[in-house]
Formats: sequence, structure tokens, C-alpha cells
Amino acid sequence: MAVMRVLEGEWAIIEDNGPPDMSSVLAHFIPETQNIEGPASDSPVPFGVPRNRGERQGGPRCDKFSDKQIREEFETMCRQDKYAEMLAMRKKLPAFAAKEDFLRQLEKNRVVVVVGETGCGKTTQLPQFILDALIESDKGSTASILVTQPRRISAISVASRVSAERLEDGSVGYAIRGESKRTDKTKLLFCTTGVVLRRLGSGDILRGVSHVMVDEVHERSVDGDFLLLELKELLKKHPSLKIILMSATINHETFIKYFNDAPLLTIPGFAHPVTDKYLEDAISLIKYHPSAPRAGKKKTDNAMKAFWDEYKSLGLDDASITALHNITRSDGIDYHLIAAIVNHIASTAEKCGGILIFLPGVQEIRQCIDVIRPLFAGRKADIFPLHANLSSEEQRRVFVKTPGWKIIATTNVAETSITIDDVIYVVDAGKVKETQYDPDTGLSRLVEQWVTHAAARQRRGRAGRTQPGVCYKLYTRKQELNMAKFPVPEILRVPLESISLTVKVMREEEDVKLFLSRAIDPPKVAAMERAWSILQELGAVDEAGRLTPLGRHMSALPVDLRLAKMLILATVFQCLNPVLTIVATLSSKPLFLSPMDKRDEAAQARARFSTGGSDLLTDLRAYDECHGLRSKGQGQAAIRSFCEQNFISTTTIRDITTLRNDFVLSLADMGFIPLSSTPSTSALNKNSENLNLIKAVILGGLWPHVARVHLPSNRIKFDKVQAGTIQRENTAKEYKIFDLREGRVFLHPGSVLFGEAVWKSPFLVYFHKYLSSKVFLRDATEVCGGI
Ligand code: CDP
Ligand code: MG
Repeated sequence: MAVMRVLEGEWAIIEDNGPPDMSSVLAHFIPETQNIEGPASDSPVPFGVPRNRGERQGGPRCDKFSDKQIREEFETMCRQDKYAEMLAMRKKLPAFAAKEDFLRQLEKNRVVVVVGETGCGKTTQLPQFILDALIESDKGSTASILVTQPRRISAISVASRVSAERLEDGSVGYAIRGESKRTDKTKLLFCTTGVVLRRLGSGDILRGVSHVMVDEVHERSVDGDFLLLELKELLKKHPSLKIILMSATINHETFIKYFNDAPLLTIPGFAHPVTDKYLEDAISLIKYHPSAPRAGKKKTDNAMKAFWDEYKSLGLDDASITALHNITRSDGIDYHLIAAIVNHIASTAEKCGGILIFLPGVQEIRQCIDVIRPLFAGRKADIFPLHANLSSEEQRRVFVKTPGWKIIATTNVAETSITIDDVIYVVDAGKVKETQYDPDTGLSRLVEQWVTHAAARQRRGRAGRTQPGVCYKLYTRKQELNMAKFPVPEILRVPLESISLTVKVMREEEDVKLFLSRAIDPPKVAAMERAWSILQELGAVDEAGRLTPLGRHMSALPVDLRLAKMLILATVFQCLNPVLTIVATLSSKPLFLSPMDKRDEAAQARARFSTGGSDLLTDLRAYDECHGLRSKGQGQAAIRSFCEQNFISTTTIRDITTLRNDFVLSLADMGFIPLSSTPSTSALNKNSENLNLIKAVILGGLWPHVARVHLPSNRIKFDKVQAGTIQRENTAKEYKIFDLREGRVFLHPGSVLFGEAVWKSPFLVYFHKYLSSKVFLRDATEVCGGI
């Protein structure tokens, strides 16, 4: 394989048999990296582990103020009318009834598990209980409470809510990557799990911190599980630390056991009763009769007869049983059924309210809204999508009270982390999309499957927040019996390269596999071994299993490891600006929209930006043109119309810009670019116009994600090289792609390289490979040069 390296700005092609040894490249090209191998002598933070701007080490601190001063200020706050007003509201939350019990348990134990239904006041009230109790017992200066949140948006919004409840007295702050708000008075800090993990990773043992509260532990994210693993170890080193785990009522026994029979505090909910309407009930209510039987798995006559008898005995008529049979046998989501249910609710209810529809993904939300909207023409109704990809402004719209019907089609974000007060009806399509990873093949795929009992219970609970509600379930009682009880923890279904590298950076001397095997649910050995061999392939660890300087730097960047490598290469090869955009684009949702009804138009729009035989460079060009409008002084309206015309997502444009800034901050923190520089600084962009060099950096980052392209005209040449013999003349009419490992693969039709007419090169490098009907490659770039 020919690998290109840049020497003093000139091209040189050298022969190499493996991935480029980036550690030596880095050591050679960055003179400032003298401390690349270890911690800088004057800093407790190992070089390469970024520290957030404005974020100090230690917990929230208040040591400048005496216990007495803190208590006096607190008492003054308590006397304010506004505080009393808010306190009266807070006291209505179920968490308040559990206050004394909670403090008593915490007094006696180092770890306490608290469960309670969403909205009962765990996140906003429990941290304040601890703080107030310390202040009132004249120990205010020792209070230093970290509360972790799984998402940036919840860290900020909860901090702002709690800060308002304490009349903005400065005692509440937040820290997310790249941004923090805290003062010398801050005692309660809401931060993302990642922020705490990075602090632990820098060797900080949270000495000044009195309490760590881990919120939403039931989500079982890789980060969350990893944090619990670290905290369990930390309890031994930090004798006064107390840990509180907060969870929705999902599988909390697991945490209790993990922390050696930690006590459990259950906050009783105040949920109103919710009536369940399963599919069989809904069918007879709405008399929904799909016109034609749907295709589905064949059932034997006996099974069919049993089905028929069962529902006949429940009193269903023939048409309803046929409809029920069709629906339960089809795999997709029946939007017309959802629309019929929503219409039934709106036509029979006495007063308007909120209807929350749970769907598996953004595409399904769009389709569902398209079917529902015409039904509500002329009626007072607001229909909103809700998913994590919306801007916070768009997300906020769903909370505004409306006089008519409020219909929200949502993913599982509304299950536990978002509370919408006026929901009375829930329609649960019962499906969720989940990534599944096969360590044997290294392939991930997104699989639609039934929700778990735990998730279904959460969804149902959303209907009874403020008054009695109804939950329509698009599955039968019988189907529900077959659903899994709890979701599979993320650590068991995703690739483990990133977490393995983080562990290696944090615990260089420790065996990573051994350490991970102490997680709540230890990952499979095969998955850990595969991750380790990928880390070797990427040059993050060496043959002997030691961490390389490149590996240390890669782990410090908040992005996929291959993209981290690409960013590092871009600083070395001085083409930072375009690579920042490419990496940010690959880390975001698709830049180009592809509405179902305008697929062709959308594809043509993207094709107009096609450049360099690369999806990545095509998206880069679109982003640059859009951004160029702003530099030319064009207003928001012009930019929006440009995006609309070209099927470009304005949300993704915004995300890319934010991510670019995040990466610049991280690179500066790592010492790769000067702190004062901006990404457009010329020294970092000497080669930013050189498309071939950018492609080489893409290849260097994504290697070995490379595939051979068999074109009809060059097939013979490859077979000669591959097999060592001259093959018979190729008569294939189409190009074929072969992954270096997987064999035959297919280019995703959304790629600008789709269709052989554009092929100029026999190799392509790709970012994403996944399995659906076949193995598809996405985000491809043709590779210059030959074999
Ligand atoms: O954590 P948990 O789900 O148990 O509840 P919480 O987040 O502490 O919320 C308690 C109450 O505070 C909710 O019922 C909301 O009405 C309110 N809240 C709010 O108004 N704004 C927020 N950002 C968070 C909560
Ligand atoms: Mg909460």
C-alpha cells in the first residue's frame, strides 16, 4: 500500500506494508510536543487531557466563605417572598415527603439508591435537600455536590431551574464540555457524565467533592456504567465521599447489588390512574378495517384458528379480528391506525388536551405527522415533532400551553428525561430503534424492535401526570407478554474501542479487559478483543499493548477515534479548516435532507455540490457555500432560502459550526494549535486548498476502512495482483466493490459516487459500514493513486 507523507510541504510517496506509524510522524513534525509522552511537570493533568475553559479542578468551592456567612445568606434568602412562593410549589412534589428519610439514609450510608417516577422531584430537589441540611447544621463550607446528567441540554436546563428556585444566589452552576457557569459561591454543580469522567481521567480523585449524585442511572449508557465503575473504585480512595444514584423505577436491584446492598429509598409517585387500551380494545373502539390483508409471516391454520377463537371469545366481531390479525402480522408501523386512534380521541373527548405519540425514529415521526395533519385541518390543534435532533428552541415549543389539541409525535426522549405537563393521552407504537453490534463481524446495525416492559411502563406513565389519562398500545396483551423486561445495556451492544482507550489512558498499568470485566454487565470477551485489535490497527496502542502518544491524544478529542486521528493529522499537515468541517459533519446528523416525497429532487440538489469524488468533500463544499453567504453579509433569510432550495438542514449547519468550535477548543487545550489562534489562521491552513492532501488525511484517519472497486475495465489487473494469476477477461457490466475484509459490499445509493460513470479510482475509503439488507458503505471518498 502506498502511503503518502508530507515532508516540508512536499509530496513523497513511500512504500509501507501497514498503517502509517503516526506516533513517529507526530514526534517528528510537532516540535512543541516535548511533553507528549507524559504529564507536564507543573500540572496535575496529563498532557493531552483537555481541561474545560473556565472549569477549575476540585468541586464547586465555597471555602472563601465561613459556615456562619453561608448560613446567614441562606436564611436571608429563605425570608424572601419569592422563595417562599417557590418553596410552596416545591413542597407539593412527592420528593418532599421523602426528605427526612433520604437525609437519614445518607447520614448512615455512603451509597444510597433513590428511585421515583419521572417528575417526582429527584433531580431538582434531592441535591437541594443535601445542601440545605449542611448549611443549616453549619457545615455549608463543606458542601460540594456534583450532579451528573446524561445530556448537555438537561444539565443546563436543570441548573437553571434549581438556580431559579434558589433565587439565583450563585450556589448553583453547571459544567458541560467547553462551557461552564460557576462562581466561588457554587456548591451544587450540574455536569455531564463526560465532564466527571474526564476529571477522573486526569487523575483527580475529587478530593474536594462531598457528594456525587448520578442521575438517570437506569439509562445504562456506556458512560454511565463506566462512571459507576470508577466511583466504586473511588469510594476506597476517598473516605468521605457519598454517592447517590437516582433512577426511574427500572431495574434498580442491579445497582443495589453492584454497590454491595446499598439502601433503597423509593419515592412514592403521585401519578393519576391511567387506563390501558391494548390493540384488541382499540380495534373494536374505532372499528378500524384496513382494506386489504397485509403481507406477513405465514401462520398455520391451527394458529389462525386459535387466534380467531381467542378474540371471538372476547367479543370482537369478524372484521375487527381480521384487522387485528393483519396488524399483528405486519412488521411496519400502521400510521393510519394511529391517525384513527387520534381522531377517535379528539372526536369523543369532552375537552382538549395533549396527545403524546411514541414512535421509533425521526423518519416515522415525519410520516405520522403527514398522515395526522389533514385530519385536524379546521380544528384547534398544534402538531409537533419531538426528538433529540431538534434545536432547544424547537424542543421548547412542546412545553407551551395551548388552548386546543396538542399532538406531539416523539421518540423515546419523552420517556423519562422530558416532562410535558398537559399530556392526557399516550399512543405507544411499541417500537424502538437500537444499535446492535456484532463483534465477530465488527458490523453495527440499527434494529427496530419491540420496546421493553420497562420502557412501555414509562411511556404509559406520561399520560397520568396531571389528571387521569389513557394509554393506547399498538400491540396486544399477548404480544406484551413476549417483550423483554429491561433494555440491554449499551455496553453490551456497541463497539468498545473508545471506552477501552479511555480506560487505558486513565489506568495505563491496568489490564483493560480485566477492568471492564468489573462493570455491572461485563462486555463479551470477543467484543473487548476486537476493540483492542482495532486500537492497535489505529496506532493508539502498540504491539506490546502500551499506549502510544497518538492514542493519548486521540482519546482527548470528544469524537469518534478515527475522526480524532483525522483532526490530529490535519494539524500536522496544515489543512485544519476543511478537516474540521468534515469531522464535524461526520459527527452530525446528515447535512442533506431527503424527504420521502422528494427523494429525487433532493439527490439532484446534493449532486450539484458533488466534488472530488467524495461524499465528505461534497458536504464540505455545501457547508462552505452556505457559510460563505454569511461572510458576504447575507442575512438569515437568504441563508434559510439557500438551505431550503438545496435540501440542506439548517439544524445540521448549526451543529457543525458548534462542533467545529468544540474541536478547536480541544485541540488548543491539547497544545496542538495555539490558544489564541482561530481555525482560519494561515499557518494551520497552508494546505487547505490542496484536495489531494485532504483526501490523504481522510485516508490516514479512516484507514483501514478501504475497499477495492472492480470496474469492468480494470478487473483483470486486480485479479492478477490479488490471486497472482491472470484471470479470464471480466465480462461484468457493473462495478463491484470488495471490502478488504468483508468481501462484496455495496455503496449506499445516497453516495455521490453511486453509479460507475464517476469512478476514476480503483479504491475508496469510507467512514461507515453497516448491515441492513446487504452490507452498505456510506460517506465514501475515492482514493488517489494505485497499487
Ligand atoms: O428528576 P425527576 O424526574 O424526579 O423530577 P425533576 O426533574 O426534579 O422535576 C420536578 C418538577 O420540577 C417537574 O414536575 C417539573 O414540573 C419541574 N421542572 C421544571 O419546571 N423545569 C425543569 N427544567 C425541570 C423540572
Ligand atoms: Mg430527573
